[in-house]
Amino acid sequence: MTEPSGLTLTQALAILIPLTILYLTYRILDLSPGLLTPSSLRAIIFGAPSPSPSSSIPAYFSLPRALASYNAYRTLALSDIRAMEKSYSRLTYKHKRVGYVLGYTRKLEEARRAEEVNAVVCRGVAGLCTDTSEFPATESGADGVFWRWGWRDEDLQPDVGRVREALKHFVRDWSMEGKEERRRIFEPILDVLREDPQAKEGLKVLVPGSGLGRLAWEISELGHDTTAIELSYFMTLAFRFLLSSKTTQATDQHTVHPYAYWFSHSRSSENTSRGIPFPDVVPRPKDNLRLIEGDFLKHSPDGAKYDYVVTLFFIDTSLNIISTLEHIHSLLKPGGTWINLGPLLWTGGARARLELSLEEVLRLSEMVGFRIAEEGARKRRTVECEYTGDRMAMMKWMYQAEFWVATKADE
Ligand SMILES: C[S@@+](CC[C@H](N)C(=O)[O-])C[C@H]1O[C@@H](n2cnc3c(N)ncnc32)[C@H](O)[C@@H]1O
Repeated sequence: MTEPSGLTLTQALAILIPLTILYLTYRILDLSPGLLTPSSLRAIIFGAPSPSPSSSIPAYFSLPRALASYNAYRTLALSDIRAMEKSYSRLTYKHKRVGYVLGYTRKLEEARRAEEVNAVVCRGVAGLCTDTSEFPATESGADGVFWRWGWRDEDLQPDVGRVREALKHFVRDWSMEGKEERRRIFEPILDVLREDPQAKEGLKVLVPGSGLGRLAWEISELGHDTTAIELSYFMTLAFRFLLSSKTTQATDQHTVHPYAYWFSHSRSSENTSRGIPFPDVVPRPKDNLRLIEGDFLKHSPDGAKYDYVVTLFFIDTSLNIISTLEHIHSLLKPGGTWINLGPLLWTGGARARLELSLEEVLRLSEMVGFRIAEEGARKRRTVECEYTGDRMAMMKWMYQAEFWVATKADE
């Protein structure tokens, strides 16, 4: 009997099986090795769903990108140090000797050690994402870690810069070292809330762009029903690392070396490589503190509107400041209050539709329907402050931030 033309079943399987193995290997390697859970396997085998129109988080702040970045921190940070070592190695033998006597090689070793310590924190943050009991469904859901929402691979490239920013936020928000920086910007806001005649009954407060969550947490400690909204998973994962009893149990349990990779403006190598313990207090999820991982511009409150919206270093991140102020206004109860403190550092590269001056922002606020307090304890004023500054560095970036309290005028 002659074989029928075309492939036999055995031949077809012989081709298909290696191809399937090749494809699965490709998909597995494409994901982080720590992510092989039933849901990631499901994603690998059945493919990712089509892009979700409900995912309001841009790819560069997304969970997959933040996770990839925390996972890749050690590799990327150490490759930066390697580049510095390579540069040093290009010196002549005589100059290398001078460098050695000055302690430069020791400084590079210290930087390497410091980055290893930072990587421990980063691994802890990334590890949270694979624990679905610790990572209950959010906007994108626990499975969202593994779905790519149709984003392009280049949008999801690890970003070591954003992780470093989050590490500095551990200091600003949650260490003793950051206390003075926090005091200058938190106290004017907390004073307004403390002095509100309704404070004893508890107020409903929204904190958009909440970063690592310290301000929202402080407000909830005053007894108010507080909602924090943050778009960037680089920030919220770091906050979750502190909220979770699995990753954080005690004060000063963790250490970061947030300045170790940058040798500029350094008074001494010791300062640059110093470790900073955190947290100064252990935050725990509470009934009156809610974290929403999503876009504030898409947020509408459950039930009643807010008594207060508090924006700290936030409004200038808007791509459309008019939409931001209109949305703040719409979220407030009649007579509700908006507290703002921050600079006007607009997103560069002409990405912001409008880049207004302070005068223009104040005028816009009135046009949107706010009355800004110009007298008494709530009077508009300038607050000199830093943002994730290194208090021991030779350079300071000082903001002349503006503080105001605005009331939603009658509609
Ligand atoms: C400059 S940071 C300030 C963070 C925090 N308020 C602080 O002072 O530490 C601005 C934050 O707003 C977040 N953000 C920007 N646009 C947002 C939006 N539409 N919804 C929620 N968060 C947003 C950013 O991800 C970033 O974490």
